[in-house]
Amino acid sequence: MVTFQDLEYRVANNAKWRETVTLLTGVSGSLHPRQMLALLGPSGSGKTTLLDLLAGRKTTGALSGRILYSGHAPSKPFPRRHTGYVEQCDTLLGNLTVQEMLAYTAELKGPAAEPLAAKLARVDAAVATLGLASCRPVVATVAALAAGGITVCATIHSPSAAVFRQFDRLMLLLGGRLALAAAYQGSALRAANDERLKRDADAAADLPPAMLAEMAARCSSSTSTPAAHGLHVILLPASQAEVAYRGRRDLADFPGYLAPRVLDKLAVALLIMTLYWGVGRPAEGAAAIARAINLSAALFMWTVLPGFAAAAYCPTLVEERLLFNRELSDGLYQPITYLAAKLLSEGAVALVQSLALCALTYFPLHLGGQWVLYWFVYFLTTCIGVVLAYAIAALSPNIYVANAALPAYVITPLFFVGQLMRPSDQPAHWKWYGYLDFLRYGWIAQMVNQFEHSHVFLAFNVERSEMRRPAD
Ligand SMILES: Nc1ncnc2c1ncn2[C@@H]1O[C@H](COP(=O)(O)OP(=O)(O)OP(=O)(O)O)[C@@H](O)[C@H]1O
Ligand SMILES: [Mg+2]
Repeated sequence: MVTFQDLEYRVANNAKWRETVTLLTGVSGSLHPRQMLALLGPSGSGKTTLLDLLAGRKTTGALSGRILYSGHAPSKPFPRRHTGYVEQCDTLLGNLTVQEMLAYTAELKGPAAEPLAAKLARVDAAVATLGLASCRPVVATVAALAAGGITVCATIHSPSAAVFRQFDRLMLLLGGRLALAAAYQGSALRAANDERLKRDADAAADLPPAMLAEMAARCSSSTSTPAAHGLHVILLPASQAEVAYRGRRDLADFPGYLAPRVLDKLAVALLIMTLYWGVGRPAEGAAAIARAINLSAALFMWTVLPGFAAAAYCPTLVEERLLFNRELSDGLYQPITYLAAKLLSEGAVALVQSLALCALTYFPLHLGGQWVLYWFVYFLTTCIGVVLAYAIAALSPNIYVANAALPAYVITPLFFVGQLMRPSDQPAHWKWYGYLDFLRYGWIAQMVNQFEHSHVFLAFNVERSEMRRPAD
C-alpha cells in the first residue's frame, strides 16, 4: 500500500531564470495492492511528475507532504530499487534480447547475495507470463500482474473504453491539482476521502508482524548494489558461461565498438611507419641534424594521435545517456560503478591496441630509448584521451556538440607541445596553458627517452630546463 498526502512539489522554473514553479499542489491519494489506478489528466497536468515522485526518481526540487510505503517513510534508495517503472521512451540495450535485458536488470537490481539461478528463474517466469499474454493487449497483461498482488499506477493518454474498464480506481489531475479541487476543498467528499486515506495509511498496521518488520527494515535501509557486484555484472559473463551482457558484447561487436577504437589509430600508425621508415638510423654531421628534426616530428605526430583519436569514444557515452539515467533512477548502481566499468573496458582495449601499434612503429622507425617507456607514454596519453572524450561527451547536450567540441579543444594544446613553437618563445600570458598540456608532457617524455644518450644538440626545440640531457 502506498499513500501520499498533501504533496506539493516546487522546482526551479526552466522557462524563467531565478523563479520557481509549483508542479503539484495538495495532491493526496493511495495505491492499493491488487488494484490498478489510472492516473489521467491533460498534457502537462503533472502525471509524470507524480509518478516520478512516488518512484523516488526526482533528484531536484522541493517536495513537501508525505509519501508512505505500507505506513513507513522510505529511505531514498528504497523506491528506486523496489518499484518497477516503465518509461515512455525505450532506454534499453539494443544488442540484448528481451530475456537478456531482464536478466541483466535482475542481476543488478536483485539482492547481490541472491543466487543467479533464482534471479534467472524469476526472469523466466516473467517471460513466460509475457509470452502467454503476447496476444493480449498490454493493459490486460498489466492487470494480470496486479491481480497477482502487485500495486500498479499507470498514466495513460485517451484510453479506449475497454482499456479504461480494466482499471479499479481513477485520479484526475488538472494544473498540478486534483481536478475539481476548488469545489472539492471543504466538501463532504473531501472529508470522506480524508477519512478513507487515514484508514488506508493505518491499514498497514493490520499486516502480519513479520511483514511489517521486514517492510520497516527495507524502508530504512540505504544499501544499493555493491560496486564490485555491479562491475562484475556489467563487464564479465555471469557464472553461466553463455550469459554475457555489456562488456563482452561490446568486445564482440567489431564494426560498432572495436573498429572506431582501433582502425583510425592503425591507419595513422601505418602512415607513420611507412613515411618515417628508418628515420632513427645513426647519422653524422648535417644528416644528424636532419635526423633529429624528422625524429622529433615523427614523435610529435605519434604523441598527439591519441588526442584526436579520442573522438571515437564520445558517441558511446552520449548514446548511453538516457539508458544511464534510467538505470541510475532504477537504483541499479552508483555513478562511480558505471564510470569504473567504462574505464576498465576502454583500458583493456587501449592496452592491446597500444602494444600492437607501438610494436608496429618502434622497430621500423629504428627508434632509440626504451621500448617499454615508448609504449607506456603512448598508453597513458591514450587513457587521458579517453577520459577527456568522456568528460566532453558528459558535458555536451548531444552528439553534434560533442563531435565539434573535442577536435576544437584538441587543436589548442598542439601549439604548446614545443614542436610548433619553442616554449621559451611563447608569450608570458600563455605560459600557464602549456603547463596544463597533457600532450606536451607526453612529447617531452618521448624526446627524453629518444635522445637522452645521444650527442645531437637538441636545443632547437626543447628548452634545456625541460630536458634532462647529460652534460655535453
Ligand atoms: N523545471 C520546470 N520549469 C517549468 N515547468 C516545468 C518544469 N518541469 C516541468 N514543468 C512543466 O510541468 C508540467 C507537468 O509536467 P508532467 O511531465 O508531469 O506532465 P504530464 O501530465 O506527465 O504530461 P504529458 O501527458 O504530456 O506526459 C508540464 O507542463 C511541464 O512543462
Ligand atoms: Mg507525462
